[in-house]
Amino acid sequence: MRHSISTKIFTSETLRLAVVLAVAVQALALGAGWAQEPAPPRFDEEIAKQQKIFNSRGADVPEGYITGRTLLSYLQMLPGFCGSLGALGSSDRWLDIGAGAGQAILDYYAAEADSTGKMCTGSAGKVRAVAMSIEDRRTDKWHRRAASLGDDRIRYLAGKRLRQYASEELGKFQIITDVFGGFSYTDDLSGFVERTLRLLETGGVFYTLVQSVHLEDGKDNPKTAYLTELVDASGRDDKICAWLKRTACVEVSCESKSNWNAPTELIAVKKVCGEVSVPRVKLLKYEAGDPPGRRFELEP
Ligand SMILES: C[S@@+](CC[C@H](N)C(=O)[O-])C[C@H]1O[C@@H](n2cnc3c(N)ncnc32)[C@H](O)[C@@H]1O
Repeated sequence: MRHSISTKIFTSETLRLAVVLAVAVQALALGAGWAQEPAPPRFDEEIAKQQKIFNSRGADVPEGYITGRTLLSYLQMLPGFCGSLGALGSSDRWLDIGAGAGQAILDYYAAEADSTGKMCTGSAGKVRAVAMSIEDRRTDKWHRRAASLGDDRIRYLAGKRLRQYASEELGKFQIITDVFGGFSYTDDLSGFVERTLRLLETGGVFYTLVQSVHLEDGKDNPKTAYLTELVDASGRDDKICAWLKRTACVEVSCESKSNWNAPTELIAVKKVCGEVSVPRVKLLKYEAGDPPGRRFELEP
């Protein structure tokens, strides 16, 4: 009997102590800023849908997922690119990130005398070119041309995203292009740009573009269905170009195309010193597509 009374007292005391402790811990946690953060949004489903687009073949390839742009269309979308290629020699290197079938490189290396590639070839000859694509879209033509050129003049890397390569695997480049490649498709924009710039030699240039964005010149139609958005911590719109210009060790030039079907920024980023550092952004939204819809927030 005695035993059971003391147990009862012990039990209610213990309970009271537990409640007091729980309240104290919660108060401490709030004070220390441990308030429960909402879980970061997850995009697994959308990323899986995007992977399906990358892997699509034949009739399953969505109409907007174009993988065979010619060198001529690269030249129209990347101001300055042709001149840069022409200024280089045969031991210099060009990386095309998101090369699709690698048609632009094939055109550059085309044997025909009147080919577009001749326009961009300097007196020192053609640069070595590397095509990178997540999925392997090499054609028979690619295989034949690579074999006939030999000596790894043109290489095709597939099966991985840019972030999955060690920098030693890739080496350094004088020119990097990206036409609706990783820059338009990545879910890690700041990481992608930083890795790309680290692959450039100092003095090298990264040529890219991005469509359906807030343009540097402010002339985009505000009713645009924006695909890549950048906001600051209070939700105010920022511009891709303005953000890139805050990167250390680069000079950025942007050409805004407000009269194209979708407002498009043509971008050239020249690396001017070694310690590139890109202001971080975090992913707020990713919707699979060609290209995907993305929203990023600048980190403080
Ligand atoms: C729409 S295609 C563009 C192909 C080519 N540039 C053209 O204009 O015809 C997109 C390409 O980007 C590649 N890609 C997307 N994200 C990438 C990443 N993070 N790293 C490497 N390649 C990527 C895809 O695998 C594909 O080859």
